[in-house]
Amino acid sequence: QQNIRIAPSILSADFAKLGEEIRALDAAGADYIHVDVMDGHFVPNITIGPAVVKALRPHTQKPFDVHLMIGPVDPYIQGFAEAGADIISFHPEAGAHPHRTVQLIKSFGKKAGIVLNPATPVEAVDYLLEDLDLILVMSVNPGFGGQSFIDSQLRKIEILRKRIDATGKTIDLEVDGGINLKTAPLAISAGADLLVAGTATFTGGPAVYGSNMDALRGNR
Ligand code: DX5
Ligand code: ZN
Repeated sequence: QQNIRIAPSILSADFAKLGEEIRALDAAGADYIHVDVMDGHFVPNITIGPAVVKALRPHTQKPFDVHLMIGPVDPYIQGFAEAGADIISFHPEAGAHPHRTVQLIKSFGKKAGIVLNPATPVEAVDYLLEDLDLILVMSVNPGFGGQSFIDSQLRKIEILRKRIDATGKTIDLEVDGGINLKTAPLAISAGADLLVAGTATFTGGPAVYGSNMDALRGNR
């Protein structure tokens, strides 16, 4: 079986003590830290920007998996790269030239990811695949934590798993939205190897972040 990794989404953290929350996630064995960036334009919610990413950077060595839900996205890539993002993912609808955006991310020495909304077809990655480090399948419509998993995205994950394996390259297949003890095994059997989990990580408080993430990995 795959090595399942968890990227807790800090959207569900206590924003009044984000540094402390990041250190707790690190100690609890988070693989990546998933940072949801929303602009109130591309998605109907506003979260954080590069200044917050920069402030959080000294609190952990874990990779920052920065999910940009902003449009246009290109003008903000450099800011997030310099703030300390390790992986930068964007939605192809957030700019006219997704291939150029991938190259821009890589020009700063960062890993590049594409995010597919629930209605976005897998074909959106066809001519980008060889340049990508990560594909993120949205299993909810982006904008909020705590929504329900959309089952049709399992088919998309299955197709992408085959396409990724055919490249022979290491490309993370990440799923984001509504991941819990019921949906995590479905996403994993469909082929996902990296699970974003907001609600499912944070429910119960810092004392159980580690056991929550272990349960999602399938280590009960
Ligand atoms: C949604 C965000 C997700 C969200 C996941 O727009 O991209 O990362 O925080 O939250 P849960 O795990 O609660 O669905
Ligand atoms: Zn996200």
